[in-house]
Amino acid sequence: MEMASIATIFVCFRGTASSSPFLPRLASRLHFTAFPLRSPSRKLMSHTLARATLGLTHPANVENPKICFAAKDVDVTEWKGDILAVAVTEKDLARNANSKFENVILSKIDSKLGGLLAEASSEEDFSGKVGQSTVLRITGLGSKRVGLIGLGQSPSTPAPFKSLGEAVVAVAKSSQASSVAIVLASSEGLSAQSKLSTAYAIASGAVLGIFEDNRYKSEAKKTALRSIDIIGLGTGPELEKKLKYAGDVSSGIIFGRELVNSPANVLTPGVLAEEAVKIASTYSDVFTAKILNAEQCQELKMGSYLGVAAASANPPHFIHLCYKPPSGPANVKLALVGKGLTFDSGGYNIKTGPACSIELMKFDMGGSAAVLGTAKALGQIKPLGVEVHFIVAACENMISGTGMRPGDVVTASNGKTIEVNNTDAEGRLTLADALVYACNQGVEKIIDLATLTGACVVALGPSIAGVFTPSDDLAKEVFEASNVSGEKLWRLPLEESYWESMKSGVADMLNTGGRQGGAIIAALFLKQFVDEKVQWMHIDMAGPVWNDKKRSATGFGIATLVEWVLKNGSKAN
Ligand code: BES
Ligand code: MN
Ligand code: ZN
Repeated sequence: MEMASIATIFVCFRGTASSSPFLPRLASRLHFTAFPLRSPSRKLMSHTLARATLGLTHPANVENPKICFAAKDVDVTEWKGDILAVAVTEKDLARNANSKFENVILSKIDSKLGGLLAEASSEEDFSGKVGQSTVLRITGLGSKRVGLIGLGQSPSTPAPFKSLGEAVVAVAKSSQASSVAIVLASSEGLSAQSKLSTAYAIASGAVLGIFEDNRYKSEAKKTALRSIDIIGLGTGPELEKKLKYAGDVSSGIIFGRELVNSPANVLTPGVLAEEAVKIASTYSDVFTAKILNAEQCQELKMGSYLGVAAASANPPHFIHLCYKPPSGPANVKLALVGKGLTFDSGGYNIKTGPACSIELMKFDMGGSAAVLGTAKALGQIKPLGVEVHFIVAACENMISGTGMRPGDVVTASNGKTIEVNNTDAEGRLTLADALVYACNQGVEKIIDLATLTGACVVALGPSIAGVFTPSDDLAKEVFEASNVSGEKLWRLPLEESYWESMKSGVADMLNTGGRQGGAIIAALFLKQFVDEKVQWMHIDMAGPVWNDKKRSATGFGIATLVEWVLKNGSKAN
């Protein structure tokens, strides 16, 4: 173990496929017409081609940094590179009577540094708390700098290790390091399984932490970081597979963030559909795509969805991707349904007032970004034993003479009628038809994700999503997946007595009830459009879709969904 370097793993990943920014060139627009299921004639398309994006903005084709991860088993004091980052718990910092570290790794490093590390950590009051870090420029080791990164008490969830990855890349960025090594001061006690999940969390944290969305800036910043060595968590094919998995999931998350970050003048429903089609053509061995235009949705009687879309100059696009395994049967059929409002103005019930965040409502397609980000990750992972349908009723909620009025009655594709007493409760209207469509695919389980209610943000705050499901089995599956991903979910009740406030005098139901319990009532509304035989879950991600401090999308949902789909596949095998 103390011997020469044995590097067995070498997994490199880039944030996302470099060709991803949305249609900066005409060529990719033309490519879209090649898809048989989109019906506008070529004449119509050429008209679209001639019309420039509002504001003349196009995302730049920015290359995300490519970072190579290698799992190594080397003596840390001999590792050569820019920063050796040692992750320490509060316990690891214990000293003996001579003020020397008791921890083997720390004392070994510090004996080469003449006690500098112990001195510096006392001087700087470094106690190993989560998020704390201290970095020293040194001589006497193979690395130029050594850093201590806090892990808190004794981490039992993936979160502190994800933060470790983020902290390390932040330190690397500020000292313009290109090569970094990460070692845990105490990793001997970890089981083989925890070593794998720790490596997964560190790698994901690092890749997602270094990502910056520069596509809409006229000048992109460059990152120097090229390689991260993970020391002491083992080597070999299993770890290699796990790191590749971290890379695949992260590229799905980055894609999801890019979708949400894109402004609504660029990411229209049509462009969102094109991005879905691009996933299907990139991974054509496992995906097929179907895009329905407004007329086709009308044939399917999707009056609820089309009502929302009616005011917009950007036409609706109903997106349906289907994943089938590259070989063998699919023993379980799943559907992921995402709210895809590329912009939500509120409609005639327009969003007014400083707290309504109308300027952020480009993020109202966060559910669809979670669904399509998951599709991208699965295109790379290619799990067996599972069929997955990805469904998005994409549109914009705008205002015009052709738009829906408050008080209008719309008829959904299952025949139910809805009195629209508030045009700002539009997400549920689009999801109603999307859920009916999902049930018609003959799936056993459906998860829908939506930035559905401000009420859910009031209830759970900005970082926890609300979960609603009548199925305890499905709840168990999804919570197991979220324990692996580290994403925070909280189950809320589907309290049937609250349905009372949704009674309409003229139609089968209203689309909004009283102010109280708004997230629950919204979930009860969705339930009207789901077959009772299907296991269904609704995730309200209105809070966690966006990180206010970073002014950026989070990619919420993808890590959990990928994990859940894979578990469903392996169960069937
Ligand atoms: N997209 C919003 C929900 C939202 C609000 C997400 C704030 C994130 C932050 C949704 O379409 C909406 O407007 N919901 C209304 C429902 C109400 C009219 C019953 C809301 O939450 O205010
Ligand atoms: Mn709304
Ligand atoms: Zn909305």
